[in-house]
Amino acid sequence: MESLISARHSSVFLAIFLVLSALANAKLHEHEFVVQATPVKRLCNTHNAITVNGQLPGPTLEVNNGDTLVIKVTNKAQYNLTIHWHGVRQIRTGWADGPEFVTQCPIRPGESYTYRFTIQGQEGTLWWHAHSSWLRATVYGAIIIHPREGRPYPFPKPHRESVVLLGEWWDANPIDVVREADRTGAAPNISDAFTINGQPGDLYKCSSQDTTIVPIDFGETNLLRVINAALNQPLFFTVANHQMTVVGADASYLKPFTTKVLILGPGQTTDVLIRGDQPPSRYYMAGRAYQSAQNAPFGNTTTTAILQYKSAPCCSSKGVSIKPLMPSLPAYNDTNTVTSFSKSLRSPRKVEVPTEIDENLFFTIGLGLNNCPPNFGSSRCQGPNGTRFAASMNNVSFVLPNNISILQAHHHGIPGVFTSDFPAKPPVKFDYTGNVSRSLWQPVPGTKVYKLKFGSRVQIVLQDTSIVTPENHPIHLHGYDFYIVAQGFGNFDPKKDTSKFNLVDPPMRNTVGVPVNGWAVIRFVADNPGAWIMHCHLDVHITWGLATVLVVEDGLGELEALEPPPEDLPLC
Ligand code: C2O
Repeated sequence: MESLISARHSSVFLAIFLVLSALANAKLHEHEFVVQATPVKRLCNTHNAITVNGQLPGPTLEVNNGDTLVIKVTNKAQYNLTIHWHGVRQIRTGWADGPEFVTQCPIRPGESYTYRFTIQGQEGTLWWHAHSSWLRATVYGAIIIHPREGRPYPFPKPHRESVVLLGEWWDANPIDVVREADRTGAAPNISDAFTINGQPGDLYKCSSQDTTIVPIDFGETNLLRVINAALNQPLFFTVANHQMTVVGADASYLKPFTTKVLILGPGQTTDVLIRGDQPPSRYYMAGRAYQSAQNAPFGNTTTTAILQYKSAPCCSSKGVSIKPLMPSLPAYNDTNTVTSFSKSLRSPRKVEVPTEIDENLFFTIGLGLNNCPPNFGSSRCQGPNGTRFAASMNNVSFVLPNNISILQAHHHGIPGVFTSDFPAKPPVKFDYTGNVSRSLWQPVPGTKVYKLKFGSRVQIVLQDTSIVTPENHPIHLHGYDFYIVAQGFGNFDPKKDTSKFNLVDPPMRNTVGVPVNGWAVIRFVADNPGAWIMHCHLDVHITWGLATVLVVEDGLGELEALEPPPEDLPLC
């Protein structure tokens, strides 16, 4: 019976697909992801890492705008698993979004789930990653979205394209690292290396042999699709002796501009054109930490790959090689470079930013400290002064449900899973970036969502706080792209900061780096029904509760409602 229903379901799906694809010339891409423990050697040691199809990074998905993806994920690992297609709008297909206990129950060990979704109106680079515990440390890969078949890029066609996936590697099991932090209440151990396409590169021990090579040749243009897939670290990225022309970010095009350095928070992507205009040789491309938090440990090391000219005299015969040229990188705390980079981002032309606003929201984002609960021994309260680390939005430290997803509870009207009282503004007004009274450092745990009517025009001010430490937080919203209309430092002041809004050509993204000790203002139209998590993309912060969920109700029209849940949606 069950298979009959799903057979009928999928044949309906196929029929609709055939009609639509005939109209739009779109393709269907079917993939299988087998997720399992695989021995991986890095930094002189071998660990069993959880990988997709035995690859680290996992497979690249390459599609055209308008195509449909059907990806069967089979969990052969020992942990619960979900996969998120980071930045894919998932219009009416929220069941395929992936965050554990937000849009689905996890795929249990031994089980599988098929994600089905269509790319609609997005071009550039996105990526996919696990969205359960810290599995995404090794479960991630690129999504390349070309223009519709036969359509050009809005820039001269590059001679080649390369994916540059920045990542982070622990010389340990990352799940053990986060479990240990949960036990002690202290900050989790920092990683042991940053990586490019899974490889730390020449500057780390035992890593030279496998350093990633990115090919180019004199006179060629290479389109680099740079992705920050690191768990907990915004990264600078630069290439020795070469300028980069930024043409897109988060699968939206940008007005091209030239730069020597990129900054990407975890979750963000940037497409750049690089021209082979230097003497044919070898040049390092390098990534290293941007660290804005005070007194917090971070990995002060540099990951490298090698940009190698095909005609370089060094590289034709094996064994002969010249040392690549090393670029200079900004200092780890160079916030000025971050600010000027963000200010350079503009949409290519005038865009339709909502000017009338129906929902004017103000969310504080930041860390916190929980007092040691009475039944916890001191070994479980190893945060500052015998506390446990926490984080929150508007003082709510987000707690995921554990026996059903928020989207299922919303769709089927199941009470008791969440409450809809996430506050539109901070419960207490204070000097957010000043010297905050200790009485305001402890957030309140809760599973609170904010409900939005279909089609409402939304503005959210994201305000960093200096609680524990100010920090640049990469805030990611699922299910939407938004315009970043302004950013600044200090406390957002509606009286004078509104005049700084760019309502003409602001950049469109899915993840915004909220300036350290500052704020960012985003706008979007809530035209995609579903339950959409908004969170800090530093996994250490989401672990501590820096998240909330926006529940967007169905509209009245047939195409304004969430699709019914798939038959194989995992059960809890
Ligand atoms: Cu890239 Cu909720 O994540």
